Amino acid sequence: MKLSDTKATLSFSNGSPNVDLPVYQGSVGPDVIDIRKLYAQTGMFTYDPGFMSTAACQSAITFIDGDKGELLYRGYPIEQLATQCDFMETCHLLLYGELPNAEGKQKFSRNVTMHTMVNEQMQFFLRGFRRDAHPMAIMTGLVGALSAFYHDSTDINNPEHREVAAIRLIAKMPTLVAMAYKYSAGQPYMYPQNDLSYAGNFMRMMFATPCEEYQPIEVLVRAMDRIFILHADHEQNASTSTVRLCGSSGTNPFAAIAAGVACLWGPAHGGANEACLNMLYDIQRQGGVDKIGEFIKQVKDKNSGVKLMGFGHRVYKNYDPRAKLMQETCKEVLDNLGLHNDPLFKLAMALEKIALEDEYFVSRKLYPNVDYYSGIVQRAIGIPVSLFTAIFALARTVGWIAQLNEMIGDPEYKIGRPRQLFTGSTKRDIVPISKR
Ligand code: CMC
Repeated sequence: MKLSDTKATLSFSNGSPNVDLPVYQGSVGPDVIDIRKLYAQTGMFTYDPGFMSTAACQSAITFIDGDKGELLYRGYPIEQLATQCDFMETCHLLLYGELPNAEGKQKFSRNVTMHTMVNEQMQFFLRGFRRDAHPMAIMTGLVGALSAFYHDSTDINNPEHREVAAIRLIAKMPTLVAMAYKYSAGQPYMYPQNDLSYAGNFMRMMFATPCEEYQPIEVLVRAMDRIFILHADHEQNASTSTVRLCGSSGTNPFAAIAAGVACLWGPAHGGANEACLNMLYDIQRQGGVDKIGEFIKQVKDKNSGVKLMGFGHRVYKNYDPRAKLMQETCKEVLDNLGLHNDPLFKLAMALEKIALEDEYFVSRKLYPNVDYYSGIVQRAIGIPVSLFTAIFALARTVGWIAQLNEMIGDPEYKIGRPRQLFTGSTKRDIVPISKR
């Protein structure tokens, strides 16, 4: 970051002296006012719940221009990555800063492939869960449990440990997600098969059984790979910030990523894909397209607590570029499977059209986000709704680990420790229990 010629001056209406604050510029995007010394200089904190105006770190990984609807991984537009690269190249880019050449890609993919198997003990750990446990509950446990199995990669301050943990996490997430699914379905686990692509291997572990091989359909494998690319990173979102905060205490990488999985589960974040499909099912059950008007009315009624899931975003105030790519994939997959008349897709398109013309959504700049169409694609592939967020977690793992490693390597990094505006009781004495 570069120190700007401009300074910010903070003045107070009570006559306290002005405070000059340095301003820094990044390569693109808003400048930041450096308030690190504010408390020492003024005895005051800043107040910003939800980080509406606070940059918590510097990062060179992902850039979003929310007004333009632009998303760049290491400078490359998401549209180019989704159409010209695969997930392994994207992982390499996010982790190391550059796209690999052919040889580098082969080496990286091989490295990931060599780590796809999980310790055989993991399946006994799974047995402790109820069969109807939510896959994200299982994933939170399994990812955290990795730190109990891979002791040679738990020292976050050791660059070699961090590198091996990164590769292990990327490699093992598909295996764990597929195991969570097989466990809930009561089917035997399928071991990874290393001559398949990353997405192809995942789909085989999901859909093959020991009695029947799975013949991957190329267009579905491509769709899965695209889902992975589109979800791979998204700068300082809630789960990534959770991973950074958790990792800032020096905990091991597996524990930090498990914290990210837990945060992603919420319906305002990664859980939105599951919530969105359930919302579409609900509207469908109540009468489909004819009921959209009624549903929109509920959404606009603040007391109803109903939201249009898959719409709106903290950063995008324009169409989420990932939603456009996802819609494209959705059409391709449904056409390929002969499902172009899929009623849920038609309902989603009709709902989107009505919302985009409605004053409520227009004035608040609410557009479809990545989760709006991803559920329809995953459902067409045959993935159960409850597994959607686990697949998001699988894809986001590379982003989490790239951001975590970036933080550890940043000389300015400190343990994350927000401040507060205290509004509770001031100091008081305990009244003996007999007199309370
Ligand atoms: N349906 C109806 N109203 C909405 C929606 C929605 N989906 N999203 C925002 N609003 C309204 C909100 O009520 C508020 O209205 P008002 O100004 O009258 O109070 C206004 O729009 C601004 O919303 P906000 O809640 O202040 O915005 P935020 O930045 O705090 O929240 C969000 C962003 C994504 C949590 C929210 O838009 C939302 O809950 N969307 C639905 C869930 C969803 O699709 N999440 C996936 C996000 S993308 C994938 C990911 O990164 O996880």
